[in-house]
Formats: sequence, structure tokens, C-alpha cells
Amino acid sequence: VRERTLIAVKPDGVQRRLVGQIMQRFEQRGFKLVGLKMLQVSDDLLSQHYCELRTKPFYPRLQEYMTSGPVVVMVWEGYKVVQASRTMVGHTNPLEAQAGTIRGDFSSHISRNVVHASDSPEGAQREIQLWFQKKELLNWDCFD
Ligand code: CMP
Repeated sequence: VRERTLIAVKPDGVQRRLVGQIMQRFEQRGFKLVGLKMLQVSDDLLSQHYCELRTKPFYPRLQEYMTSGPVVVMVWEGYKVVQASRTMVGHTNPLEAQAGTIRGDFSSHISRNVVHASDSPEGAQREIQLWFQKKELLNWDCFD
């Protein structure tokens, strides 16, 4: 099953110059980059992205963090990429993320956890539509 998923390097990841290392892990794994951009997230976009978390007590802190600087958002394509990316990213709480995962290697606090990865194929579809216009997603051949 060829899938697409949305991966975002959060503001702490950008500030800590981790974008290249994070992208490298997805390339190395053999996934295909089909969309990429850097942007300053608005409160409105963020609340749509995290529509299920809007009422959580930590949402104001999450909003402050996610809008504190630019994010790098990308769409990766490949076989079971949604599930594989969740494994590569690691547990939401970096303290429970295994070494070798992005969060396990680069972060130590749940409110500064470096990356976002879509949690299901349906979630990925929704998030990709929210963050990207159709023309910003490129189909290209990688001989696979
Ligand atoms: P993410 O995988 O992007 O999805 C939801 C985000 O909410 C999560 O990463 C964390 O950044 C944040 N989050 C989840 N739970 C908490 C929490 N208990 N305290 C602070 N932030 C949280």
C-alpha cells in the first residue's frame, strides 16, 4: 500500500538545526519526498491541525510553542509510510521514546518533542490537505 504522511519539524527542531538530520532519516529509509515547505504557523492553522486537542489543558502551551518560530513541513510517500514514520519518530513523550528514534535521540520533554508525524492514513490525508495545496505535491519517478 503506497501511502503519504505529513511530517513536521517543530520550531525547536528548526532552531536546533535538526532539519537536515531528520530529513536524512526518511531518505535513508527509502521514502520519497513529494512536498516540502517552511512556514510560520498561524493560530488558525494550528487549531485546525490539532482540532482534537483544542480543549486540552496543555493547548495554550502547545500553541505558544508551535508558533514560536518557523516549522518545516513535508510529505513523504512510500509503503506503509504512516506506521513506519511513527516508529521512526518514537513515543510522544521523549522520556519513553527509544534510543534510535528521532525523539529518543533528540529530545527530552513532551512539550518540546521536535517532530510531528500523522497518526493514521486518514489523519495523514486530512493533515496533508490542510497544510498543502494540490499543486505543491509533486509526483516524480524514483524507479521503484
Ligand atoms: P504531536 O505528536 O505533534 O501531537 C500532539 C502534540 O501535543 C504532541 O506531539 C505534543 O507536542 C503535545 N502534547 C501532547 N501531550 C502533551 C502534554 N501532556 N503536555 C504538553 N504537550 C503535550
